[in-house]
Amino acid sequence: MVNRISALFGIRYPVVMGAISQMPEFAACVSNAGGLGGIAGAAAPPEVLRERIRKIRDLTDKPFSINFPIVLTPEKDLQPKMEMMAEEKVPVVITSAGNPKLWTAFLKSGGCTVAHVLPTLYHARKAVEAGVDAIIAEPAESGGYRGEHEVSMMVLIPGIHRACPDMPLVAAGAVADGDGLAAVMALGADGIQMGTRFLATTEANVPDHVRKLILAAIDTSTMSAEGRVKPRINRPELAMEVLGEKRQTQMGQVAALIDSVKTVEQVMRDLLEGGSAASARVAAAMASLRDPAAV
Ligand SMILES: Cc1cc2nc3c(=O)[nH]c(=O)nc-3n(C[C@H](O)[C@H](O)[C@H](O)COP(=O)(O)O)c2cc1C
Repeated sequence: MVNRISALFGIRYPVVMGAISQMPEFAACVSNAGGLGGIAGAAAPPEVLRERIRKIRDLTDKPFSINFPIVLTPEKDLQPKMEMMAEEKVPVVITSAGNPKLWTAFLKSGGCTVAHVLPTLYHARKAVEAGVDAIIAEPAESGGYRGEHEVSMMVLIPGIHRACPDMPLVAAGAVADGDGLAAVMALGADGIQMGTRFLATTEANVPDHVRKLILAAIDTSTMSAEGRVKPRINRPELAMEVLGEKRQTQMGQVAALIDSVKTVEQVMRDLLEGGSAASARVAAAMASLRDPAAV
């Protein structure tokens, strides 16, 4: 069976790197490991972004993505950056935090595959109308922009999958290992987008305090930030306890399940091996429910 996300993005494993970095080396590393590496494209001036895109290309011949939170990208840069996506033949453009109607047709006519990140079924229907190629659904638990409604993974993914069965669907967030991968696939996702797990890798160019906060986090260590797009951040208490000062970093609830820094290769291996083991475990458990005598 062909995986819809792997097929659409042209990648080996349906694992998308969240927009957690602007570093071409990190993006290329994830792409070389079989996922869809990518960088955040909003902050850099257009010509710096172009250099970064070219650098990714120097480091990998695999597909990659550039992410734009639309409302957070400086207005004057949006048009030139969108034109650049086509000029540079960027394989996948991921838009978020904004209206997918604005740029989807333009990007697709330029040859890019377009995925849109969104937090509710309402937004998913709008994205389908806008003609996106894939939906990346961001539930309450995730480290990304979850909007004000905070729909849980268990409701968001099946809801979108049922309403939009023909749309390739990525679950963004709350996954750090194979158990999580198998779980969201059972809910109807074709793949995952991970931010926090990739931040805690040896290849991630993050300041030391970010890794420390992720490794120390427990299930109650994060909260929703105020403001328009509401990313999830660490609670001040965690920073006080770990760093002795109030520092804020964006991270998902899944930080509670991350207790060591790993290489990107190891993270990918955990996903695949752990995912197979988890689904075999569930299959055996379900078989025993159907026929207890056979177990
Ligand atoms: C530090 C950080 C920065 C992020 N920046 C962006 C961004 O610029 N655009 C975006 O669409 N998502 C952004 N996200 C969300 C990720 O792309 C991804 O969807 C999210 O981290 C998944 O949840 P997880 O952290 O639980 O894996 C960011 C996440 C983190 C942790």
